[in-house]
Amino acid sequence: MRLVIAIDGPAASGKGTLSQKIAAHYGLKHLDTGLSYRAVAKALLDKGLTLDDEDIAAQVAKAVDLGAMKREELAVHAIGEAASKIAVMPRVRQALVEKQREFASLAGGAVLDGRDIGTVVCPDAPVKLYVSASPEVRAKRRYHEILARGNEADEAQILADIKVRDERDMGRSDSPLKPAKDAHLLDTSKMTIEAAFEAAKNIIDVVAIKN
Ligand code: CDP
Repeated sequence: MRLVIAIDGPAASGKGTLSQKIAAHYGLKHLDTGLSYRAVAKALLDKGLTLDDEDIAAQVAKAVDLGAMKREELAVHAIGEAASKIAVMPRVRQALVEKQREFASLAGGAVLDGRDIGTVVCPDAPVKLYVSASPEVRAKRRYHEILARGNEADEAQILADIKVRDERDMGRSDSPLKPAKDAHLLDTSKMTIEAAFEAAKNIIDVVAIKN
C-alpha cells in the first residue's frame, strides 16, 4: 500500500527523530521539510543577501534540490531562525511545497515532517500526527543537542528564541503551524523517544491494517 504519514509540530518537539524512526520501521522514504526552508535561508546568508526580499528568496527556493540537502550543514541554530523568517513568504512556500508534494507522491509512500504537512502539503494523508511538548522541555532538548555537537549554548536564550519562533510559525497568515482537524495529538513532554515511537506505531498500525 502507499502509506503517506504527515508529521507536524513546533521546533524541537521531537518530530524529526520520531519521523526517522517511523520511516525506518515502515520502510518508507523520509523528508524533513524544515531542511528545505533552511536551505533557502543558508543560500541567502552565504551570499550576503537580505532575508526580506521575496523575489530573491523565491528564486532561491525554486533552485533547491531536495536530494542534495545536508543536515549537518543546515543544523545551526541561526539558520533555523532565518528559515522561519523566509518561511512566511507565500512564493517561497509555493516553490517548496510543489517539490515536497512530488516527494510525497513517490511510489511506496513516504514520511514527511514539518509545520504544514497535514494541513497543506498532504491534506489527504491517511495518517497525521501533531507532535508537541512544552517550550521549556523543547528548549532543554535543543540545548543538549547543541552541546552534543560540541558547541556552546545558552538555555535561557534558546527558550526565548523558541517562543519567538512559535509565535512566528503559528501566527503567519500563509500555512500557519496548527494541527490538522484529523491529526492525532502526541504530547511528548514526559515521553522518551521510545515511548513516543510506541504511541505513534499504535496509531499508524490501525490505519495500516485498514488499508
Ligand atoms: O528543527 P526545527 O524544528 O528547529 O526547525 P525546522 O523543522 O528545521 O524548520 C525551520 C523553520 O522552517 C521553521 O521554524 C518554520 O518556520 C519553517 N518551516 C515551515 O514553515 N514549514 C515546514 N513544513 C517546515 C519548516
